[in-house]
Amino acid sequence: MIEIEGLNKVYNPKSSEPLHALRDVGLTVAGGECVILSGVSGSGKSTLLSIIAALEKPTSGKVIVGGEAIAKLPDLHASHYRSKSIGFVFQHFGLLESLSVEENVTAPLANRRLGRADIAARVQRAMEHASILHKAKSPVRELSGGEKQRCAIARALVNEPGIIICDEPTANLDTANSRKFIELLSSIHAEGKTILIATHDPIFDTLPFPHRIVRMEHGRIVEK
Ligand SMILES: Nc1ncnc2c1ncn2[C@@H]1O[C@H](COP(=O)(O)OP(=O)(O)O)[C@@H](O)[C@H]1O
Ligand SMILES: [Mg+2]
Repeated sequence: MIEIEGLNKVYNPKSSEPLHALRDVGLTVAGGECVILSGVSGSGKSTLLSIIAALEKPTSGKVIVGGEAIAKLPDLHASHYRSKSIGFVFQHFGLLESLSVEENVTAPLANRRLGRADIAARVQRAMEHASILHKAKSPVRELSGGEKQRCAIARALVNEPGIIICDEPTANLDTANSRKFIELLSSIHAEGKTILIATHDPIFDTLPFPHRIVRMEHGRIVEK
């Protein structure tokens, strides 16, 4: 499903102090697998996830997702790839605060040629799955942190992508909401989605479903 080989990312390559965010990273993730990228802040987790989502381009290396080489995709193709294959849940959610939950979850479908009824059904399903249907009409600014995250998860699910990526998903949640998040993750895993999570929260050391912990240090994978 995901094959990464010899991946490097250098920020500010031409400056006097280039920053090697990723160094010779190799990783293979099978379809349906759940991989937890762990490591301290600055170890390269977000950079690796952004490259897999084609939000950023690597300096060198190979990234194959579902048979497609994505390292050098031009922007338009990258955004097409993302909407088809990837659901991304950002640490700060990235929701439009003045719009309702339903409007936020509908947004990723804007460029799809779907009929109204189909759109409504998909949005309904995604909100239901993420346990946020009861807040469908509420503006996001009125939601709690846990509810905002469930809205972000519904938005990530609405295109029915094969891969769900979450960056520090529990960083802004209390313990009760972190546990709810893990339950939701478990049901997403049971559906056969491939899951990638960057975190340094020890709650992920004991997940109630099969997973693999991949440790990063200074831009390298040190254990997988
Ligand atoms: N846009 C950027 N420009 C310059 N340096 C960056 C940029 N993004 C990340 N970095 C640097 O790359 C390294 C890895 O960052 P990141 O992938 O965000 O780590 P993590 O998610 O594990 O905290 C850090 O040293 C960070 O400061
Ligand atoms: Mg990060």
